[in-house]
Amino acid sequence: MNFEKRKDLLGLKDMSREEIELILDTAVPMKDVIRREIKKVPALRGKGMITVFYENSTRTRTSFELAGKYLSADTSNLAVSTSSVQKGESLKDTIQTIEMMGPDILVMRHSMSGAPHYVARNTRMRVINAGDGTNEHPTQALLDMFSIRERKGTLEGLKVAIVGDILHSRVARSNIYGLSKFGCEVRVVGPSTLMPPEIERLGVRQYFDLKEGISGVDVINVLRIQRERQHAGLFPSLEEYAELYMLRPEHLELAGDGAILLHPGPMNRGIEISTELAEGPNTLVNEQVTNGVAVRMALLFLMMGGRRDEIAA
Ligand code: CP
Repeated sequence: MNFEKRKDLLGLKDMSREEIELILDTAVPMKDVIRREIKKVPALRGKGMITVFYENSTRTRTSFELAGKYLSADTSNLAVSTSSVQKGESLKDTIQTIEMMGPDILVMRHSMSGAPHYVARNTRMRVINAGDGTNEHPTQALLDMFSIRERKGTLEGLKVAIVGDILHSRVARSNIYGLSKFGCEVRVVGPSTLMPPEIERLGVRQYFDLKEGISGVDVINVLRIQRERQHAGLFPSLEEYAELYMLRPEHLELAGDGAILLHPGPMNRGIEISTELAEGPNTLVNEQVTNGVAVRMALLFLMMGGRRDEIAA
């Protein structure tokens, strides 16, 4: 199987289990490349990739850029805050201008849900969604799934609790779509004001009580409280949120034996996760960052026509 028929990666909703497995399997040897003294393979020599982020990022943008460089692609970044976007240039004109410079892959983050879909329909470049509004963040979910599979040995049938601001979370949506394809029991846990209406239609079960929601699970994925998207006073104060929903070491004991904890970052320590737990042995935050580079290498490689059997295991 290869990605010949897939031009873009816009979300996990429309991605098959086989495609996801192919990316995760390909990320295994890519992780070996990252650990080498010389982190360079020629797979994407002569290919161009540009990152265009209309929202801030540390992890996603940097890991895409490093992933491209480790694969020998020519990478570039449009610094939106100092670009002609600030002079009023439209999204369409900006993307058309970039396209005329010849890159093959556009990695894009935008505050509007659906913006990468619009761009993908209007460019010959392959478009990767690096997070669109509250819709999807597919590569975050892929790296989460890789991290879970690496630690647990499988994804099949695991119980996963996603905790926090489900309403605004593109990470939650992509994880729900991805994990559901592997028979996981996905729970969403948080205050009712941060729970999307009809979320259970996605095949998940909602919990408003933290202890109940995480009881007996294999994996807890803690979401960031998105202060930049909290316009409507959806909870009284950060202190009250922390009192009811902040994950602490004792919460891991409520989960199943060997339960692991993920956080997509950046973390708000003392709000959704305690510092003690953030630095605990069952917390995969740092591994997630490394795995993010490996998964994005795998994705770039496959999208540019690479085959899994071309790279050593
Ligand atoms: N997890 C994540 O998307 O982090 P950044 O916002 O730093 O890219």
